[in-house]
Amino acid sequence: LQQGLRPAVIWLSFQECTGCTESLTRSYAPSIEALMFDYLSLDYHHTLQAAAGEAAEAARLETMRKFAGQYLLIVDGSIPAADNGVYSTMAGRTNLDVLRECAAEAAVIIAVGSCAAFGGLAAAAPNPTGAKSVEALMAEGRISRKPLVNLPGCPPLPLAISGVLAHFLTFGRLPDLDDLKRPLSIYGNTVHDRCSRYRYYQDEKFAEHFGDEGHRKGWCLYKLGCKGPVTHNACFIHKWNQGTSSPVEAGHPCLGCSEPGFWDKGGFYRSL
Ligand code: SF4
Ligand code: SF4
Ligand code: F3S
Repeated sequence: LQQGLRPAVIWLSFQECTGCTESLTRSYAPSIEALMFDYLSLDYHHTLQAAAGEAAEAARLETMRKFAGQYLLIVDGSIPAADNGVYSTMAGRTNLDVLRECAAEAAVIIAVGSCAAFGGLAAAAPNPTGAKSVEALMAEGRISRKPLVNLPGCPPLPLAISGVLAHFLTFGRLPDLDDLKRPLSIYGNTVHDRCSRYRYYQDEKFAEHFGDEGHRKGWCLYKLGCKGPVTHNACFIHKWNQGTSSPVEAGHPCLGCSEPGFWDKGGFYRSL
């Protein structure tokens, strides 16, 4: 990276719901304001940038030209790959085409959210757009191979996003990753490993129905379909809403949102 300059970031949003950007805006250590104004130069982001239309596309191209081989490319949302990618376009070009162009000169790629990391919602059966993850497109040779980190979750924890950016800014490299390219510091343990209801799991005290006595007493949600034992995420460490709470703490079973294919794994509600 050029000395004295804030690293340039191009953030591409494809088939997504803006939940991942919502999560980014809740980052508090470092804060979104510090990231944007002190540490990074967020040169392109549909939702957060002031520019629109041709000016926005010009900013992206200018960043790619000035910082070729140096900019961080962040992607949220899956990429529709069926029928040459016609199902999602911006500025008259398919998502696949824009990703191919931006990936070619990126230093690293960060796939934010389960959609970019694993295909996510749009890739759930029957996946009419042929939605794929960034990694799948790399494996197929449809975009350039680059150092990649996956930050799954629907959305990912705010600190997963800001923490990885802070790590890169501090050490100039990506953090250590697991076999799904997820940072071990965030995804190295399961939700279950660190759950505040774990003692009830050990004592075999389970809520059987939403609102029953066990549920009201804060017992384990395993019998309500909790996927915490097979879901790698740090929801009980970093939590949501500026460290306030997490889904399981609030009384809802973990849906497994940071694991591949969670939409099709029946995590939502147990059929009675
Ligand atoms: Fe939305 Fe979830 Fe996909 Fe993020 S991962 S864009 S929150 S559906
Ligand atoms: Fe494990 Fe879920 Fe029970 Fe917590 S509520 S102990 S994560 S099964
Ligand atoms: Fe997702 Fe489960 Fe955490 S649903 S937000 S990994 S508690």
